[in-house]
Amino acid sequence: MIVQENISLKPYNTFGIDVNASHFIEITSVDQLRQSLQLKNYPHILVLSGGSNMLLTGDLERLILYLNIKGKRVLWEDDNRIALKIMAGENWHELVLWSLDHNYGGIENLSLIPGNTGTAPIQNIGAYGVEIKDVFESCEAMEIESQRLVQFHKQDCHFGYRDSYFKNEGKGKFIITSVTLILRKKDHVLNTSYGAIEDQLRSHNIATPTIREVSEAVIAIRQRKLPDPDLLGNSGSFFKNPVLNERQFSAFTENHPDAPHYRLRDNTVKVPAGWLIEQTGYKGKRIGDAGVHKEQALVLVNFGKATGSEIHRLALSIQNDVSQKFGIELIPEVNIIE
Ligand code: EPU
Repeated sequence: MIVQENISLKPYNTFGIDVNASHFIEITSVDQLRQSLQLKNYPHILVLSGGSNMLLTGDLERLILYLNIKGKRVLWEDDNRIALKIMAGENWHELVLWSLDHNYGGIENLSLIPGNTGTAPIQNIGAYGVEIKDVFESCEAMEIESQRLVQFHKQDCHFGYRDSYFKNEGKGKFIITSVTLILRKKDHVLNTSYGAIEDQLRSHNIATPTIREVSEAVIAIRQRKLPDPDLLGNSGSFFKNPVLNERQFSAFTENHPDAPHYRLRDNTVKVPAGWLIEQTGYKGKRIGDAGVHKEQALVLVNFGKATGSEIHRLALSIQNDVSQKFGIELIPEVNIIE
């Protein structure tokens, strides 16, 4: 295990922000993770994996634990289902493609989401009507303080919209080392009710899609709307879509009767943050190298040399203007590391 010094984190975050880390270890096994946590000289750590959900706002006097533990194996299977244990450092989209190659269904709607498998449950990744919680069985996580491996079953994870135990009570206490998913081997349950998927399949005259065709439809939609982090730095949706209670929603809709919105089961209403940001005049706006994507206002982008603080300042000014105009507080989905 080698502790490297003065490492640029530009290749390790999808925003492509060039900050310096004082110390850095690449972790390729659970044992190495345990040993790294036992090192005495580094009181402050930052765990980095796919780097797809964080904004680094400055140089870091910390030990970066770059989690790159690979591997997947079958735990059990029956006629219909297969339980797969996937190590944290496995790239999420490669896992989706591998599952399609084996005709394992359940995560096809989650195609092309950047990042690694170990961080996917933290924010309960979701897209096009599916969230990881729908196929999640359990995960193993190392408790930072004791270096014990703890198993979390689905009900322990308190999954919500872009939310879990690991973003709340468990924040900063655990490092997820593997995730167990249960996928279907046959009789696939397709989730194509999301408007954009239906339109995409219809335009290709596909009436009874396979899981691969659903994945291809999702990939086509994402490629049209969302920037490829390899070409234009970004972290996907920067904010969560706000969820309003009945009272907040009726105040909002009185002034904005045409606003798109989605009723949720518990009588709350989700309003697309992308619409709020677009209405506030930010879509396609650029300040230096920090900007708002021209196809999807929920995505902030780095045109090349933006600093994390420039992007953070842009985010704060969006939050401020949306709050002034609509009385709605946008909450970042991305972790802002200061
Ligand atoms: N909209 C606008 N202007 C915009 C963008 C969106 O008016 O610039 C409005 C439109 O009315 C549109 C609606 O917002 O119909 C919804 O837009 P979209 O379908 O693009 O979805 P989203 O709510 O903006 C969420 C997720 C995405 C996920 C898509 C598809 C969040 C925070 N984001 O975006 O997830 O891919 O739905 O399911 O929930 C991510 O988390 O990084 C991410 C990309």
